[in-house]
Amino acid sequence: LRVAVLASGRGSNLQALIVARDAGALPVDFVVVGSDKANAGALQLAKDAGIPTFTLSAKDFASRRDFDLELFRRLDASGAQVLVLAGFMRIIDGEALSPWVGRMINIHPSLLPKYRGLHTHRRALEAGDTEHGASVHYVTAELDGGPVIAQARIGIQPGDDEAQLAHRLLTFEHQLLPAVLTLMAEQRLDLIAPNRVALDGKL
Ligand code: GRF
Repeated sequence: LRVAVLASGRGSNLQALIVARDAGALPVDFVVVGSDKANAGALQLAKDAGIPTFTLSAKDFASRRDFDLELFRRLDASGAQVLVLAGFMRIIDGEALSPWVGRMINIHPSLLPKYRGLHTHRRALEAGDTEHGASVHYVTAELDGGPVIAQARIGIQPGDDEAQLAHRLLTFEHQLLPAVLTLMAEQRLDLIAPNRVALDGKL
């Protein structure tokens, strides 16, 4: 399976994917890693792993739509069949992403449908939740609102603060994302929904 990854930050989830692939546990080929931040740690991790990279800066585009059209032009050109958002911190235009529905997943640090958007750890603590987690879901036009594929669930301990909770959850994210991508690569996962796009790009 040819996979492209988008990431805006340090890239620990990307690294977990690369480690799983190198261990022979994830039968994919990473064709490109893209970012909206030239200094993203994820880009360096990709380069170190010999994966081609690109950066698009929002300031070079007149609108979100123009950015996203160029983004998907690059991703199409890479030959990617599946797109993984691993800490990609931009909202993507719903029309631009529609050809990828069913082939595009995101990892989000909450037990969706709880806490879409930002500051999920803080919001779980403030709500007094006793458990927290991460979700991998299909990306649709609705922010963090696409169908959930799998979740990792952890307990919130008394005294946890935002950073501790985020840190503890991250190790589970690093198992969850490769596990879901493995299912996709083995064609054991299929989005049952209108407008889905099969892995080969055809319905
Ligand atoms: C992770 O918490 C992920 O769930 C969220 O952004 C963070 C990315 O971390 N979407 P990293 O860049 O993969 O280390």
